[in-house]
Amino acid sequence: QINIEFNEEAREVAAQKLKIGLYFASWWALNVVFNIYNKKVLNAFPFPWLTSTLCLATGSLIMLVCWATKITEAPKTDLNFWKALLPVAVAHTIGHVAATMSMSKVAVSFSHIIKSGEPAFSVLVSRFFLGQAFPLAVYLSLLPIIGGVALAAANELNFNLTGFIEGMIANLAFVFRNILSKRGMDSVGGVNYYACLSVMSLLILTPFAIAMEGPQIWAAGWDKAVSQIGPNFIWWVAAQTVFYHLYNQVSYMSLNETSPLTFSIGNVIMRRISVIVASILIFRTSVQPSNALGAAIAIFGTFLYSQVDFSIPVLAKK
Ligand code: 3PG
Repeated sequence: QINIEFNEEAREVAAQKLKIGLYFASWWALNVVFNIYNKKVLNAFPFPWLTSTLCLATGSLIMLVCWATKITEAPKTDLNFWKALLPVAVAHTIGHVAATMSMSKVAVSFSHIIKSGEPAFSVLVSRFFLGQAFPLAVYLSLLPIIGGVALAAANELNFNLTGFIEGMIANLAFVFRNILSKRGMDSVGGVNYYACLSVMSLLILTPFAIAMEGPQIWAAGWDKAVSQIGPNFIWWVAAQTVFYHLYNQVSYMSLNETSPLTFSIGNVIMRRISVIVASILIFRTSVQPSNALGAAIAIFGTFLYSQVDFSIPVLAKK
């Protein structure tokens, strides 16, 4: 009897591990495809305000169809839910546009090296805005993260200061989004929460995209891109926008199934490494040894950061 129960339990644990493994593998694969098409589109059609808007519009459309056809049950929300979502959507919109603007100016690999600095922003925001204190090990783990990103940046062959600053703005905005979104996610679940976030961000972003770029230059830019790439260009845009939604959705599904610790290792370490390596190979990006060393140190710092036991209470010194 005990043996049968033990086998049953072991099978369940193995099935859960397999499920998480499949979620993670699809998340990284979807993200690699998004990054490749995102860069290809931005190279041919350098209008990040429009492409960011199209990503959110495609995600919103996919979810509206899922809700209408009952593939996904629509969330039950009230005015308070949308009010609480507003600051999260503002942070998500700023982060998304800034990340896309940065990506239009720097190599995909360098953009992900900049993003591996996100834990440093997370600690600084929590410390200075929320008065939260951390174990000394957390502060120490920031040294390789910051030092590694700085080393990689100093040796980046195609360094672009504006792109670097936009990447940093995206890091900061995503930290605020993550801190704020923890509060509302439980009521509707990860997938629907991300869907509502896409819809609200789309509404916020659209007027700004029109003001910053506008239909006239989009039309001229589109014709130029189609004349250079051919009619296939529309498929690049379709891949960029659909994969943007899919990878984000699978990342929220993964978050639902794992602890934040496993999630952050899967996110920062494995996902960024997959994208950095894949994009260097596909775009044949020139990488100097010191550049690669900086990236490795920053990612190792993130690994150290994720190993710190956050459950040890530390008194806030406000
Ligand atoms: C975006 O456009 O929102 C960013 O590219 C997202 O970046 P990340 O999911 O790789 O952090």
